[in-house]
Formats: sequence, structure tokens, C-alpha cells
Amino acid sequence: MIWARAEGCRVTLADGRVLLDLTGGFGVAALGHRNPRILKAWREQEVVHALGDLADAEVTLRLREALPRPAKLGVTGEDAVEIALRTALLATGRPGIVAFDGAYHGSGLLALAVTGFEQFREPFAPWLPGPVHRFVYGQDPGPLPEDAGCVIVEPVQGRSGSRVPPEGFLETLRRRCDETGALLVIDAVFAGLGRVGEMWPGEELADVLCVGKALGGGLPLSAALFYRDGLEETWQLGPEDVYTHTHVGNPLACAAGLVVLEEVPRMLDRVREAGECFAQAGWRGRGLLRAREGDAEKALERGVLVVPAGLDGSLIQATPPLTITDAELEEALDKLS
Ligand SMILES: Cc1ncc(COP(=O)(O)O)c(C=O)c1O
Repeated sequence: MIWARAEGCRVTLADGRVLLDLTGGFGVAALGHRNPRILKAWREQEVVHALGDLADAEVTLRLREALPRPAKLGVTGEDAVEIALRTALLATGRPGIVAFDGAYHGSGLLALAVTGFEQFREPFAPWLPGPVHRFVYGQDPGPLPEDAGCVIVEPVQGRSGSRVPPEGFLETLRRRCDETGALLVIDAVFAGLGRVGEMWPGEELADVLCVGKALGGGLPLSAALFYRDGLEETWQLGPEDVYTHTHVGNPLACAAGLVVLEEVPRMLDRVREAGECFAQAGWRGRGLLRAREGDAEKALERGVLVVPAGLDGSLIQATPPLTITDAELEEALDKLS
């Protein structure tokens, strides 16, 4: 499938078909594709690439200030996860990680090690770091293993099918972490920035909270936010930043990020309301992170773009732009009913 144009909630394919986009490009286009404020912000930038960790552009500094906590920036969602897990090792000296079945945290080796998708892990098993202790998502893992430096958890699991944990699950994890001094890493790369109707889901419980996807408005940008005071200091490891990327803090991505951080908080009631329409049509999940049984190919034939989800790919997932209108919602749900 080749995309020729993407605007708002619609995608035009190279063969001329126009689709209603319920993917938002894997949840990235929170403000809609080609959002005019984001395009304007990009055009206005005086620096399009600076010097990564050696020199921020002014706009990168402004983005850091607009985030609710001190943060280490990354490029992909996986980077934010990697930063969070490395922070736990630096802060506790303990290499073990508690993770959950059905989790998706990214595809680089460290994030892959904690990902619950067996078929992604298996080909690279000899190289995966650890130890990783895997528990059932939604259940109390009990006292944490002695070597565990952190627990990593999605507030609502995304890729495995918009799985909402039972009430009190994250609080239980917080308590288990407090018993041993392990860090609670909340991976809100998918669920965060408004997608489940909250800006920073789990912020009241997290030691580190990861965001990505929507943050750069379509350009790659992620962040690990340090909610426990002083965690950023664990990264003072010498004159050089020992975990960095050429494109870290990209000015265009940060300029878009400022728009996202300004616009999305005004949309949270609307996200919850639109999410209710999905719930009434039998979609599980929270806010606009939704899934149900279905066939992405059949949806495509009806003019609606969704992606397969679930551990075995038997679900379809809806993560539309948060700007989806009532008319678009009605049209999508009608076509898929
Ligand atoms: C919860 C979660 N964490 C991390 C990632 C990895 O993000 P990226 O693909 O940008 O590396 C994803 C991607 O879907 C995700 O859903």
C-alpha cells in the first residue's frame, strides 16, 4: 500500500482510493495528518538540525521546559524505553527487569527482551539482555525478585489489543516496587499524550514515564520523563553523553512537540467522548486506543484503514487522530459494523 496524501483523518492511496484512517499512522498523528499548526511550526524554524547532545536548538530547550518533568530525549519510542531501563540499572545497580505478557516495548535488543511477543524475541534469543521476569498483565506479581531493578508496564497495553488492566493494578506495582526499591517504569509511548484520555497516564505512580509516537507531530521524538527526583543525575557519567543519537532533540520535531503539548490537553474530554462511541460499538480499550476482533483486509475493502493487532494478529486496532469528527466516527463505525 502506498500513501500519496494524508490530511486530517483521510489517506489517499497512490491508486486514488480515499480511506478513512483509523490508524493515525500507529497513533502518531494525534492532531491529524498535515496539521496546519504543525506545518507552520516546521516552516518557521531557523535551525533544522543542531548538534544533538552537544548543542540544543532554542526550540529544543523550549520543548524541555514544556515537559512536566526533567527528561532525557530520544528519537524513537524504543529509545525512551531504553533510557528508562538503563536509568533503573544506573539507579539500583540491579539488572533484573519485571515485565508482562502481551507487552510491546520496541524492537531493539533491550526493549525486545521485555516485549511479550514471543515471535519477535525468538530469532534473537541468544542476544537478549536480562534477566527478565515475566508475569501476567493485570495480576499482582507478588514480592519482586531480588535482582529486579525495575518493573516496566504499559498503562493500557497497545499492540497486544488495547488491554485495560483491572483497577488498582498500577497501584499494586507501585507498592511492590516500594518494597524493594525497584523503579516503576510506565511505558506510555502508545497510551500517552491524550490517546487514552489522559496526557501522562500513570504520572502519579511512575518513577520514569516514557512517551513517543505523537510527541513529534509526525517526526521522530521521544522522552523518558523522570518523576522520581534526582534520577536525571544518574546520567552524569562523565564529559560525554554515553547514550545519545545524531538526531536527538531534532528542532523540527521539538517545534511540533510544542504544538502537541499545547493542543492535546484541550482535547481530553473529546477523546473520552469519542472513545465511548467505540465502546458502544463493541470495541475494547480506553479513549481512542481501541481494538476488537476483525479483519484489516475486509475493513480496507470498505474504505477504512485499521491495523492488525493482538498477539496472534486476530484483532483490528483503531488509534485514529484525536481530531476525528463525529461524522467520521459514525462513517467508520457504520462501515465496520
Ligand atoms: C508501548 C510502546 N512502547 C514502545 C514502542 C516502540 O516505539 P517505536 O516503534 O517508536 O520504537 C511502541 C511502539 O508501538 C509501543 O506501543
